[in-house]
Amino acid sequence: MAYNLLKGKKGIIFGALDSNSIAWKTAERVHEEGANIVLSNAPIAMRMGQIADLAKKTNSEIVPADATSEEDLKNLVERSMEILGGKLDFVLHSIGMSVNVRKGRHYTDQNYDFTAKGWDVSALSFHKVMQSLYKADAMAEWGSIVALTYMASQRTFPDYNDMADNKAYLESVARSFGYFFGKEKKVRVNTISQSPTLTTAGKGVKGFDGFIHYAEKMSPLGNASADDCANYTVSLFSDLTKKVTMQNLFHDGGFSNTGVSQEVIDEFNQ
Ligand SMILES: NC(=O)c1ccc[n+]([C@@H]2O[C@H](COP(=O)([O-])OP(=O)(O)OC[C@H]3O[C@@H](n4cnc5c(N)ncnc54)[C@H](O)[C@@H]3O)[C@@H](O)[C@H]2O)c1
Repeated sequence: MAYNLLKGKKGIIFGALDSNSIAWKTAERVHEEGANIVLSNAPIAMRMGQIADLAKKTNSEIVPADATSEEDLKNLVERSMEILGGKLDFVLHSIGMSVNVRKGRHYTDQNYDFTAKGWDVSALSFHKVMQSLYKADAMAEWGSIVALTYMASQRTFPDYNDMADNKAYLESVARSFGYFFGKEKKVRVNTISQSPTLTTAGKGVKGFDGFIHYAEKMSPLGNASADDCANYTVSLFSDLTKKVTMQNLFHDGGFSNTGVSQEVIDEFNQ
């Protein structure tokens, strides 16, 4: 159901790779709510055929940008304001990748070039995106910037590897930049800490199946899906959440505040 919550708003959605991507579902939902968007992804990662379908469906343009490249980001911000006809009301950073995870390197055996690359893509890129927006004065007053994170930033999930450290950095950047964006531009910055979700990035985590079932059994409301996440993001882009900023917002069916559930206890009661 659409409520016109984003009628007339404009924004950039990073990270729609395929129809499972959280960013893909978010692009569809923000469009349904009346927003105009530009889609962006890394030129090398982009599956042109698929993202072109999304662009058609959401009546949007695609501007490729490697989120680690300041030059690409500067161009993306300028082009987006041209295409959309003015300042931006929202930006979604839905980007993550660990080279150590991809190459099967254990947390205790990291290749630090891989670590640095994964950090640049997954964490520092959020600072780079915001600095590009800030310097271009591209955000409209009461705009909203959101990045996606996972709870392994705060509690240990051994197989999440160096992405845990990247997410801790990402969440810190949201608070630090959120201060300046709030003071100077009246723009809010938050991270959503999402349940494990079946996407390309999600499936890359070792033991993901066990992980997602465990979370499902632990969460009183069950895991939040990518569609649920898209809905939550719409609320954070809307005018109904104007004073929410510098927060890490758990969107996980209650997992983060549950010590143990009856279902999990039952697994151990012989
Ligand atoms: N899937 C989960 O279980 C889960 C849980 C919590 C948080 N998240 C986070 O949600 C976000 C989106 O991931 P997803 O699960 O939708 O997976 P996904 O694989 O569909 O999306 C990740 C995106 O990052 C993009 N990307 C990679 N390198 C890039 C670069 N250099 N520049 C620009 N884009 C780049 C990829 O092309 C892809 O579109 C990530 O930040 C991820 O960590 C995912």
